[in-house]
Amino acid sequence: MKKVFVKTRNVKQMISMFNRLRDREDGVPGMGLIYGEPGLGKTYAITWWAAQNDAILIRSANLMSARWLLEEIIEELGEIPYNKFSDIFNQVIAQLIKTPRLIIVDETDYLTIDSRAVETLRDIHDKTNVPIVLVGMGTANKRLQRHKHLYDRLLEIIKFEPFCKQDITSIIDQLSEVQFTDCAKKLLYSRTNRFRQLVKTISKAEQVAKSNGIKEIDEITLKEVLKNDEIDTEEIEFSNENS
Ligand SMILES: Nc1ncnc2c1ncn2[C@@H]1O[C@H](COP(=O)(O)OP(=O)(O)OP(=O)(O)O)[C@@H](O)[C@H]1O
Ligand SMILES: [Mg+2]
Repeated sequence: MKKVFVKTRNVKQMISMFNRLRDREDGVPGMGLIYGEPGLGKTYAITWWAAQNDAILIRSANLMSARWLLEEIIEELGEIPYNKFSDIFNQVIAQLIKTPRLIIVDETDYLTIDSRAVETLRDIHDKTNVPIVLVGMGTANKRLQRHKHLYDRLLEIIKFEPFCKQDITSIIDQLSEVQFTDCAKKLLYSRTNRFRQLVKTISKAEQVAKSNGIKEIDEITLKEVLKNDEIDTEEIEFSNENS
């Protein structure tokens, strides 16, 4: 498998969202939300963007408290956290005012359990004006609506959608070491619509091609690959786009 970052339709939307948040006018709230079903490439996309743009990327964890969250942020800022909660908070604020950096918080679903952690993010945003983007599962949008003060500050909300045909074609063409016939691509589109599943299938197809000296994966070979795969076709939700 080639190590390439593929700019899918979701990724392009995400890039525009980050740009709009950064370029917003003074006084406009600058929080964002990215949400979507598992395996659509959210974490991979934000990790790529954060690395390119020197953003702070935090991965929330189960039972993460406001203090723990602040400690993670301060560590990312290259500082040693003070002891008292209020001191760490002020430390984060002072650092971000001095050197503003966009903050991305992955797996936000964990944070919505403790409203103090969510409120802390809102306070950081209000005091520093740095854009903060929350990333979560399919239910994240609904969950965040319970936190009205934060939800009000969301300038941008984007949902990562299942792939369209064009996405599947670019992913196969850019990632796979072996060619797929058009029929095989079509079959894959009808059976798989998540990055994680696609990556697994491409990797298995590459192995089959290598061990059997096959130059191109056709529909029949792909069916064999998929037969042994654990793709749960019942859960598949398709993109509306027919392109
Ligand atoms: N833009 C991309 N280019 C190349 N490969 C990608 C890309 N996005 C995702 N992948 C591949 O798909 C895998 C799954 O993506 P990722 O973990 O980002 O999904 P996710 O939406 O965050 O899922 P979850 O909701 O389960 O956390 C990645 O580990 C990577 O191998
Ligand atoms: Mg993820």
